[in-house]
Amino acid sequence: MLTARLTIDPHFAVGAVNRRLFGSFVEHLGRCVYDGIYEPSHPTSDAEGFRQDVIELVKELGVSTIRYPGGNFVSGFRWEDSVGPVAERPRRLDLAWHSTETNEVGLHEFSGWLDKVGSELMMAVNLGTRGTMDALDLLEYSNIAAGTTLSDRRVANGKTDAFGVRMWCLGNEMDGPWQLGHRSADDYGKIASRTAKAMRQVDPSIELVACGSSSAHMPTFGEWERVVLTHTYEDVDFISCHAYYEEKNGDLGSFLASAVDMDHFIDSVVATADHVKAVLGSTKTINISFDEWNVWYIDRFENVDKITGLDNWPVAPRLLEDSYSVADAVVFGNLLISLLRHADRVTSASLAQLVNVIAPIMTEPNGPAWRQTTFFPFALTSRLAQGVALEVKLESETYSTAVYGDVAVVDAVATHDEETGLTSVFLVNRDQTRAVSVEIDTTALGDVTVREAQTLSDAEVYAKNVLDDQERVGLRANDSVRVSRDVVSITLPPVSWTAVSLAIGVDDLD
Ligand code: AHR
Repeated sequence: MLTARLTIDPHFAVGAVNRRLFGSFVEHLGRCVYDGIYEPSHPTSDAEGFRQDVIELVKELGVSTIRYPGGNFVSGFRWEDSVGPVAERPRRLDLAWHSTETNEVGLHEFSGWLDKVGSELMMAVNLGTRGTMDALDLLEYSNIAAGTTLSDRRVANGKTDAFGVRMWCLGNEMDGPWQLGHRSADDYGKIASRTAKAMRQVDPSIELVACGSSSAHMPTFGEWERVVLTHTYEDVDFISCHAYYEEKNGDLGSFLASAVDMDHFIDSVVATADHVKAVLGSTKTINISFDEWNVWYIDRFENVDKITGLDNWPVAPRLLEDSYSVADAVVFGNLLISLLRHADRVTSASLAQLVNVIAPIMTEPNGPAWRQTTFFPFALTSRLAQGVALEVKLESETYSTAVYGDVAVVDAVATHDEETGLTSVFLVNRDQTRAVSVEIDTTALGDVTVREAQTLSDAEVYAKNVLDDQERVGLRANDSVRVSRDVVSITLPPVSWTAVSLAIGVDDLD
């Protein structure tokens, strides 16, 4: 058995845990919207056609802000198509995913669904094939109370109160050659700056996200952020990061260390943003909206799922329907640890995506909805991570990876809520064969009680929850947890993710 030690101290605060860290993403892509959240003929569907079994799972997941309507989709989207009488809405080619968009679900319907799940809307505007005027029109339609043609059109379409959308993404992945309307950093920075200034003339209270890099491995990474922020620094509040990870060439060891890449990505973007701040002599700080992150087996999309053909534009095809294993969920839980570790600068994040498309929730038409393995770390972290994120002083053995060199076997972060005393520790064991005995020094907290300790692991690291076996993998109480004086000890099985929640008080397990 391996050993590791970590120290938790409320004085090691990194920053407040913003609820927006637990955001997600709904794109008009594959079966995310149609046959995902919306399926009027499903037995559980409500009067608006939304599946209530999915609504219940989304609530259980604990999702805050939801980014909409894309993704790559937004770069070819005409927002006006998606409002007004449903029967009159046009059917359009969706060039991003080679599909047909029926526009049966649009801004009003999606906003109504958000009210049902209790989440905030984060909107993206099309800066790929459109520009400033269209963004202004959408903002006026959404956020102006009444008295103009566009706001009155919203009222006539059934929404008396303004939508009041606070967060707006200025386009999507404009650094990517695959993006409709892809631009250079210089060109994008200019249009993003112009559009941001114009949007603030309509509603100065909005929060704006400039597109950062689609991954830390883009050839333009770093320079893209520098140039874009040089144009937009005083106009925006966030720069975005997107990152997807997958096991490649059977190298599970490197895959399990994916959070190393996310840490590097965040640290590099923070450094670049602060460099621009220094050069411009600005007093403002730009934060990160990590508005796409997940495990995604992209090769399968590129080589198997991709749709082509002049006469082949299906409605809601099965696309990006990755089925997630225990190993995937451990990496996923570790990515959440990385986001929390950077809570001072990552103040918004969106798990991409929510239902069916690289998602924690899967559905079958006219059939069940179930939780993928990745559902569990997200739901538990969203429930337990409260107050401030704490840096933990960690001593762990290392292992060698082909991609990242020597990497710690254990990774961890903690959160602490001063008001309630709730303290939570999130840990992964990346070793493939050996358990790790971890000692958590809680001296600085005083007496603690373990409220709960749950672990995701399985003897079969590639076990999954699938249609025919929907509850194969889940969280289990970790009965190895003990409190002895100032130390909480717990054993982490190989390839596992664990959350321990502590209350300040008398130890009844001693
Ligand atoms: O989430 C799937 C796709 O990944 C999004 O549409 C795009 O922004 C990214 O490349």
